[in-house]
Amino acid sequence: MAFTGKLLSLPASQRAIFGKVNHRRCKQSLVRQISQKKVIFSGIQPTGVPHLGNFFGAIEKWVDMQNDESDALYVSIVDLHSISLPQDPDYLRNCILSMTATLLAVGLDPERCVLFQQSHVPHHAELSWILGCRTTLARLGHFPQWKSKAGNDKKAACVGLFSYPVLQAADILLYRSTHVPVGDDQLPHLELAQQLSRLFNQEYGTKLVPPEPIIGKFKRIKSLREPEKKMSKSDADPKSRIELTDDKEAITLKLKKAVTDLTSDVTFEPDERPGVANLVTIHAAASGQVPEEIPGQVVGMTTAEYKMIVAKAVNERLAPVRERYFALMNDEDYLMDTLHKGAEKAKLVAENTLTEVKRCVGLL
Ligand code: AMP
Ligand code: TRP
Repeated sequence: MAFTGKLLSLPASQRAIFGKVNHRRCKQSLVRQISQKKVIFSGIQPTGVPHLGNFFGAIEKWVDMQNDESDALYVSIVDLHSISLPQDPDYLRNCILSMTATLLAVGLDPERCVLFQQSHVPHHAELSWILGCRTTLARLGHFPQWKSKAGNDKKAACVGLFSYPVLQAADILLYRSTHVPVGDDQLPHLELAQQLSRLFNQEYGTKLVPPEPIIGKFKRIKSLREPEKKMSKSDADPKSRIELTDDKEAITLKLKKAVTDLTSDVTFEPDERPGVANLVTIHAAASGQVPEEIPGQVVGMTTAEYKMIVAKAVNERLAPVRERYFALMNDEDYLMDTLHKGAEKAKLVAENTLTEVKRCVGLL
């Protein structure tokens, strides 16, 4: 059989995984990973409905990566990370389902990527513990996210929030990820993953892969109310963001109220006119253009008129996503099944890495 031939040509460490697999599709996806150039890992927290920033800045790019046959893509709904801050259990459960539905509605295909819920693969927490045993308090105390989220009384903040970057390193290293698409804010976390992989490789002889960031290609979408800040799920003002489930009326209203400035023509000058530049960036992203080509198409139009053009483009882009999202949200069994199948695939690779790390550090 051609398939067996392929297996035999794999390194022994990877062949071991196949011995335990009986699901043909899993085998095929693993063969694909091993023969691929890049292994890309990304995580998204199930906290609230994704907005245009998540969509244009991250999720849409994952769909492109998944469609590149030479790459293997893992997308994890990182629920363990989200409980590093208090979460209402019912709300969290709903957010996990709605994040799954959103990712599928946007175009992630569980046959072409590994889409899974982090807590379904216990290896993340186990590797995180092992990595945490070689991570100092001094190192973790410097992370900007810890400084900003722990508040003033650091003694009252929780250990999970403090060791958040270690869990993120475990996510990445478990799949021997070569690349991680990240915004600038996540670079310090990636550096920790690189350092830990090198430390374990040098001291224990593991074969962990130091991951590289994929940066720069990602569009930053700003808040519609304060265009100096990025659009964010945690902004108290819901008019600051367009959520992927917003209907046509909500999209139009939020864009009508978007903060611009006293000049009425449309230009793309992010530093001087951040509000208008943000509208142009959103319009360009929604219509598949580059921002610089937009002002020439709307000469003579006021920003108020232009907002309606942007609203139309955003609605056209989101309408099919919204429709698929609501259909998927009505099929909870399918969503759960998709997550469980994704976790089964993820476990095959995670098990191999964790076993290697445990053996190397002396855990029999
Ligand atoms: P978060 O919403 O912080 O969980 O981020 C999830 C993903 O969306 C990360 O890859 C972020 O870099 C990306 N992202 C979040 N907000 C924006 C934004 N305003 N513009 C572009 N990308 C964003
Ligand atoms: N910390 C990331 C964020 O807040 C989410 C995340 C968790 C992640 N694990 C990851 C991102 C691994 C990339 C790779 O956006």
